[in-house]
Amino acid sequence: MRWVLGIESSCDETAAAIVSPDGRVLRDVVASQIAEHAPYGGVVPELAARAHLRAVVPVIEAAVAALPGGLDDVDGVAVTQGPGLVGVNHLDGHLLAVQLRREGDDAPPVPYPYVALLASGGHTALYRVDAPDEVALLGQTRDDAAGEAFDKAAKLLGLGYPGGPVIDRLAAEGDPKAVKLPLPFASKKTLDFSFSGLKTAVARHVQKHGPPADEGALADLCASFQRSVVHVLAKKAVAACEAEAVPRLVLGGGVAANAGLRARARELCEQKGVALHVPPLKSCTDNAAMIAYAGALRLARGERDDALRVFSRDPKRRRGKFRRDGTLVKRRPPSSAG
Ligand code: KG4
Ligand code: ZN
Repeated sequence: MRWVLGIESSCDETAAAIVSPDGRVLRDVVASQIAEHAPYGGVVPELAARAHLRAVVPVIEAAVAALPGGLDDVDGVAVTQGPGLVGVNHLDGHLLAVQLRREGDDAPPVPYPYVALLASGGHTALYRVDAPDEVALLGQTRDDAAGEAFDKAAKLLGLGYPGGPVIDRLAAEGDPKAVKLPLPFASKKTLDFSFSGLKTAVARHVQKHGPPADEGALADLCASFQRSVVHVLAKKAVAACEAEAVPRLVLGGGVAANAGLRARARELCEQKGVALHVPPLKSCTDNAAMIAYAGALRLARGERDDALRVFSRDPKRRRGKFRRDGTLVKRRPPSSAG
């Protein structure tokens, strides 16, 4: 097997990539819909579906153009959740993205096991990754995802969507101790997170003191908010490494782009003797290269999905255990494949 085509369209990015089973990224194409959703302050599913339909064929064509033989050179197809030869769980993609090898990047593969902090707009969780197909959930958010908290706080402050990058930029100019905000779950033993109260605290601060009067006050509020999120994320991630006796931490998801999180994680990891791996930005945010790679590993193990069976709502055609909404809970072993 030489090349796997990955296709990703689970949120607001339409993406396709060509990746080898050892993680070499030949091409990685991402069409973002951010501009379309920005006026609404978040992803609008109907708009997303229509934009995916428009973008998916050109994006796949652009990825496949990297292969001299075009589609004939593709040995496998991996698609996030929806039908394809291998249905890849979007989160598996994020957890393995650190293993991708991009042009000019000759970092060696990250050894297993590692603890992964996945913080994006839709998810915030800690995992122990022993192998690509051996992943254990250690803790997760009980309400909002970290990226969602950034987006909601930004919306409150009239900073537009997505909120993470703007708050990150403004926070660099502000005093993180200027506004006292809660550090949710920071002193609790659990590896779970909670971010909805933090958004409420920002809303209350604005109600009480009015919107930030000038650039300086805005930067202070952003820095204080970011400090709270980042403090808890980094603390729990390193605590997970200690609890699991795994001295290796990988960051993933869009929030891994955050300068404050990177700095705080680096500081704590150094203190505790934990090796920190932060993939390049392109690998942190939604992309199809991580989906292609996760799919390639499963294809290499001989796994195959029948597109119609795996995702069929017809019980007789299903292979595996499904929730009522049709999403897969547990895959039946490939040996029983029809
Ligand atoms: O992983 P991703 O591209 O998409 C999914 O949600 O799956 O993550 C997007 C999220 C958004 O909530 C965005 O605000 C956040 O990641 N984000 C950031 C930064 N860049 C993106 N959050 C904090 N700081 C950043 N620099
Ligand atoms: Zn994602």
